[in-house]
Amino acid sequence: MAGDETSKNATMAMRFFKKTIAMKKNDKTNPLFFWTSTGKKVLMGGSGLALVGFVVGHLVGNLQMFLGPEAVNRYAAFLKSTGELLWVVRGGLVAMVAIHIATAVSLSRENAAARPVGYAVKSYKEATYASRTMVYSGLVIFAFVVYHLCHFTLLVTHPEYRHLVDAQGRHDVYSMVVLGFMRPGISVWYTVSVLLLGMHLSHGLYSMFQSLGLQSETLRRRVRPAAVAVGGLLFLGFASIPAGVLLGLIRLPAGGGLP
Ligand code: HEM
Repeated sequence: MAGDETSKNATMAMRFFKKTIAMKKNDKTNPLFFWTSTGKKVLMGGSGLALVGFVVGHLVGNLQMFLGPEAVNRYAAFLKSTGELLWVVRGGLVAMVAIHIATAVSLSRENAAARPVGYAVKSYKEATYASRTMVYSGLVIFAFVVYHLCHFTLLVTHPEYRHLVDAQGRHDVYSMVVLGFMRPGISVWYTVSVLLLGMHLSHGLYSMFQSLGLQSETLRRRVRPAAVAVGGLLFLGFASIPAGVLLGLIRLPAGGGLP
């Protein structure tokens, strides 16, 4: 029967495919390299690095909150005016997040499978606090980004921010951010999330160098403090904005606020 023949062929093709993957698993020259543990680590590190690039750029843009409404609203209007380019960047970001999460899940499954019985006594001698909590910090950061998009980009949580317009008729992003962080609960949530982001990034950067095979003593002495410094600076930069609002250093413009 034609149906039986088709399903037989499909099963055979699947078997061949699985066998090819198994055979070539540890060969760095094979076209399925990105399916191997090393390949997945390269993908995870590369996508993580691209996301760090976005985060640094976003922080530089956000720090203009200390310059006042004109700088922020001009910058936001400029980003929107890039039209299709903005959508290309957004598409790239979504792809990077998807690759980062997929490889992280797959690698942590591989690690779990490599020691199926589990440790009777957990040894945390080598692992730092950040490394043990990478999965959890990653999940919180993901939840934070979803909330953040609903908060400031899609305006789902506060549809009234849509009506904030400055004297030039641009979306008043500056006042939107000030109004957002005037709520202490929201400021605390942002601060905790960016703290976890800083920890996640510093450990991620350090382990990326380890995965690249740079496991010397020099690495430990130089790369670890540098990675901690990058994570720490990003945390301080992002956290300075809700803190600046709550401390009254960043304020609503005269006559500003919701209409
Ligand atoms: C205090 C910290 C932060 C502030 C004040 C802030 C501010 C903003 C604002 C105002 C927008 C909307 C811009 C607009 O529509 O014109 C935005 C978008 C966005 N933010 Fe943040 N942000 C912060 C932290 C973060 C962090 C830590 C991440 C990532 C981990 C992040 C990721 C994004 C993304 C992905 C978008 C959407 C960009 C797009 O429209 O394509 N933000 N942020």
